[in-house]
Amino acid sequence: MEKKDYPKDEIHELLQTLDPPTYYDGSPLVKYNDFWSPLQFLRRLLYTQRYFEAKDDDVILASVPKSGTTWLKALSFSIVNRTVYTIDQNPLLTCNPHALVPFLEHLQHEGNPGFISTPRIIATHIPFNNVPDSIRESKCRIIYICRNPLDQFISGRHFYQENNHVFRENKVEKDFELCEAFDLFCQGIYPYGPFWDHMLGYWNAHLKNPEKVLFLKYEDLKGDIALYIKKIAEFLGCPFSVEEEKQGLVEEIAKLCSFENLKNLEVNKSGYLSNGVKSSSFFRKGEVRDWGNYLSPAMAQRFQKVMYSKLEGSEVLW
Ligand code: A3P
Repeated sequence: MEKKDYPKDEIHELLQTLDPPTYYDGSPLVKYNDFWSPLQFLRRLLYTQRYFEAKDDDVILASVPKSGTTWLKALSFSIVNRTVYTIDQNPLLTCNPHALVPFLEHLQHEGNPGFISTPRIIATHIPFNNVPDSIRESKCRIIYICRNPLDQFISGRHFYQENNHVFRENKVEKDFELCEAFDLFCQGIYPYGPFWDHMLGYWNAHLKNPEKVLFLKYEDLKGDIALYIKKIAEFLGCPFSVEEEKQGLVEEIAKLCSFENLKNLEVNKSGYLSNGVKSSSFFRKGEVRDWGNYLSPAMAQRFQKVMYSKLEGSEVLW
């Protein structure tokens, strides 16, 4: 995508029509087209909506932040490029997954990143109804990953606090109390939330066209990663051959992309991504139900009510 700027006066006009930002841990969010867009990324979002042209063979990875995006990037990159790189030469060993698979929202900011993957693999946090039309209308495929929202919330809490130099408008502001953040989360106020609309948007798209949208849950991948590596490969039209399976390639990809392996690679232990986010902050614990260490039973009960009222009737429940 050519590097252009979305006209500043149009942004200015749009902002006049929106409610003033709501602050999530010091980071301004604006309600735009029914979802909470981080204000700092609104221009990039509008730019993307206007100019991005999906190709039929693009692979789009979609998620709410902190749902397993980094893992999905590593897995998809390794699956799609398994005939290009041997495991011991895989670029994941020397590059953070976010450096290999760019975000749609950042393509304009970073200019043309020079995709090192064919087909292109591009990630996004944008809800289904707001992605560029060409993503919905072309034959490109979408892999969506979601996660128990309570784990996603706790993961986000650590991530945004660790990277407050990037996301917080007033960098010296003190940390948001857990209960304040939780209260907003239960109201759907969270970057790219409400989480229920985000999940239902992709879930319904999956029901309508399962060949276009693969719907994954983080917990299922944790339960049987080999099964899901094969599912992703089949969905992308590059199933593992009998020979590849016999050689143990599925297990090798699982090991390469595992939390323990990625977390302990030198490239992911220190340093920053080009947007200033700490590389190590994408690899915290990688556990299921870590929320139990932070939230009280009363909070969990409140959340359960919210989740059921929003998601009951779908298969997107925890
Ligand atoms: P925790 O903070 O609970 O540990 P995202 O990639 O969407 O930003 O999500 C980050 C979450 O996924 C973090 O969760 C992180 O530790 C976890 N994660 C990152 N890489 C992983 C991997 N290879 N396997 C499992 N979980 C991973």
